[in-house]
Amino acid sequence: MHKPVLLREVLQIFQGLKIELFFEGTVGAGGHAEAILTEHPEIGRYFACDRDPVALQLAKERLKRWEKKVEWIHGDYADLPRYLDERGVHWIDGYLIDIGVSSMQIDSKERGFSFQGDAPLDMRMNPIGETTAEMLLNRLSEKELARIFFEYGEERRSRQAAKAIVEARKKKKIRTTAELVRILQPVIRSGGKIHPATRIFQALRIAVNDELGQLQLGVEGAIQRLQMGGRMAVISFHSLEDRIVKHAFRGEKQLKILTKKPVGPTAEECKANPRSRSAKLRAAEKFEE
Ligand SMILES: C[S@@+](CC[C@H](N)C(=O)[O-])C[C@H]1O[C@@H](n2cnc3c(N)ncnc32)[C@H](O)[C@@H]1O
Repeated sequence: MHKPVLLREVLQIFQGLKIELFFEGTVGAGGHAEAILTEHPEIGRYFACDRDPVALQLAKERLKRWEKKVEWIHGDYADLPRYLDERGVHWIDGYLIDIGVSSMQIDSKERGFSFQGDAPLDMRMNPIGETTAEMLLNRLSEKELARIFFEYGEERRSRQAAKAIVEARKKKKIRTTAELVRILQPVIRSGGKIHPATRIFQALRIAVNDELGQLQLGVEGAIQRLQMGGRMAVISFHSLEDRIVKHAFRGEKQLKILTKKPVGPTAEECKANPRSRSAKLRAAEKFEE
C-alpha cells in the first residue's frame, strides 16, 4: 500500500481550519484523503482528482466510508477552475497536491515507469494521454533529448545518453524499457546506490506527463480559487518543482507563507518510506489585503 508522505506535517497545516470544501488534486491511493477526512468531519464536499483511473479505483475502495462527501474527478489537477465552475463552486477552503509518481504506478511494471523488468515505453499516468515515452525517445532531436535529461533528470551525462539513443534508433526503433536500459548502460555509470537509468527514466516521465507545466498552472489556479483564510499545501519531489512552488507563492501578495523553508521528512520517515527522501512540503494561507 502506498504510504502517504509527510502526513503529520500536512495535517498540521490544516489543523484548526474549518473546512467546508476541499480539493485534492492527486488523490492517488487515498492515503492523505483518508487522514484529512478523519481529522475534519466538518468537510462537506471533498473533490478527489487524479489523472490515473487505476488510482481513483483504489481510492474509491479506501474512502467508501465518505462516499456521500467525495466527488471523483478523473483528469488533470491543473483544470481545477473548470471543475469548480462545472459544479457551481467558486471557492475552496483547502487544497493539496502530492505530485509525482506513486509506488503503485512504479510497481505496475507493464506501464513502463520502472527500469526493472521489460515493458513498453509508455509512462503515461493518464492512459488517454497522447504522448508516450516511446514517442519522445524516437522522435525528439538529440539536442532536445539532452535538454530533457539534463533539466528534468539532472543527468550529468545527458548529451552522451541522447547521442547513444539517437545512434540506436537509427538501427531500430526503441520500444521497451529493457532496450532503453541496454542503450544507457555503457554510457551512464552506476552512481552509488541508484540504478544508472534512474535519472533518465525520471526525466522522461516528467516530460511525458508535462509535470512542470501542470504544477505551474495548478498552483496558480489554486491560489486564485482559495477562499480568504483558506490554506494550500504542495508536496514536490524535485528541485525544479520546488522552485516553481516557491516562486508562485512569493509572487502572490495575498498569500501568507506558512513554511519559511520547505518541510522535509524526518529521518524516521525516510527510513520507513524511502520514497519520501526527496519530498518537500510548502504551504500558504490566503488573506485579505
Ligand atoms: C504520489 S501519488 C499521490 C498519493 C496520495 N497522496 C496518497 O496519499 O495516496 C501521486 C498521484 O498524482 C497523480 N498525478 C500526478 N500528476 C497529476 C496531474 N497533473 N493531475 C492529476 N493527477 C496527477 C498520479 O497519477 C498519482 O496517482
